[in-house]
Amino acid sequence: MNKADLIVGIQWGDEGKGKIVDLMAQNYDVVCRYQGGHNAGHTIVVRGKTLALHLIPSGVLNKDAINIIGNGVVISPKALIEEMKQFGDLHGRLFVSDKAHMILKYHILIDQARERLRGDKAIGTTGRGIGPTYGNKIERIGHRMGELRDTEKLAKNLIEYFEINHTVFEALEITTQNYDELKAELDSYAKILLPYIADTTALVWKSLDEQKRVLLEGAQGTLLDIDHGTYPFVTSSSTISAGACIGLGLSPKDIGNVTGIVKAYCTRVGNGPFPTEDFGDEGKKLRSNGHEFGTTTGRPRRCGWFDAVACRYASRINGCDQLSLMKLDVLDGFEKVKVCVAYEIDGKRVDTLPQSLENITPIYEEFAGWNGSKGVKKYEDLPKNAKDYVKKIEELTNTKVGLISTGPDREETIIL
Ligand code: IMP
Repeated sequence: MNKADLIVGIQWGDEGKGKIVDLMAQNYDVVCRYQGGHNAGHTIVVRGKTLALHLIPSGVLNKDAINIIGNGVVISPKALIEEMKQFGDLHGRLFVSDKAHMILKYHILIDQARERLRGDKAIGTTGRGIGPTYGNKIERIGHRMGELRDTEKLAKNLIEYFEINHTVFEALEITTQNYDELKAELDSYAKILLPYIADTTALVWKSLDEQKRVLLEGAQGTLLDIDHGTYPFVTSSSTISAGACIGLGLSPKDIGNVTGIVKAYCTRVGNGPFPTEDFGDEGKKLRSNGHEFGTTTGRPRRCGWFDAVACRYASRINGCDQLSLMKLDVLDGFEKVKVCVAYEIDGKRVDTLPQSLENITPIYEEFAGWNGSKGVKKYEDLPKNAKDYVKKIEELTNTKVGLISTGPDREETIIL
């Protein structure tokens, strides 16, 4: 049976999925996104031109590939249209689920207003309207892309919703659009996007039946999963591999090889617990060596050491067949490299991920550092200490490392 391969983030996002998906997308006929929205993002440099991808799958760079944005994604039509402009004609190469929920202006305003009101309890969202849109979906009051087929009805329903909820909007100091503004905006989206809106589940099934090679591209990371991440400091979608079934309409039996993308250290943007965060000079060095600033918001990322407990958990929950170990070269030049092998909670050693990551003391093992892993293309050419580090990660996470990235370029990759 032909199955779809999957790529998933293992940590708090920003693991470098972009590079791997871009590398792998060349070998696939169909590339699909299944969750998240334009909170995600990576930039790819092609022939000197920088392209920003937030919603469109990386298969867009392969002229022969078909790209699918599944029902589990939340779509800002405005952001999608902007992004599409970078790629010329996409007819027949891009398909958007008619069941995917739409992010509209009011979702973005609600997201930002709530964050302001949360004060020091703020989640540190990307302010893209992700939470309110998924919230509306679960409350069964959201609107799907397919509704752009009748903008009059959609605009009327939205105005009715604004009226019923006017006290909420007033409390958040949000001015909602009137019917004419809304209708004009929706019409402008419909005009451009309707040709791309389709039954994407049928399309993925057909692709699999026709023995096409299908790649499923996750956004964010396991520890940001709405159920299994560091709740409430998470995003609002199912970022784990199981999310691909829901977010595209696949069965678990349709999923083939799962690759977990993990950095050789850890980063996090936004707020919430991060047991191995390093507040000292080494954390700063990780940030500057690794250029750890958000692609979507430009925020500096919090940096720290590899958390083997969290990675073991993530590998199990996603069913990873292999890990892609990213940015190993960023650890070049450290005298000692640390790995968190267990947690100490209330004086006890804990080897599994607890429900809350608050008040945890990481238990570290230290490894001798190395120099010269940057740009290495063959495993044999890695410094011995770097090889020992990779072996330790495999051992601690019960997962083999199938690929090591030693720099941003496609060539700076070791395939094992
Ligand atoms: P939201 O997804 O904008 O609601 O943000 C919720 C949390 O997820 C915040 O901590 C964000 O910084 C984080 N987040 C969302 N998308 C990404 C991403 O693509 N990479 C890393 N963190 C993300």
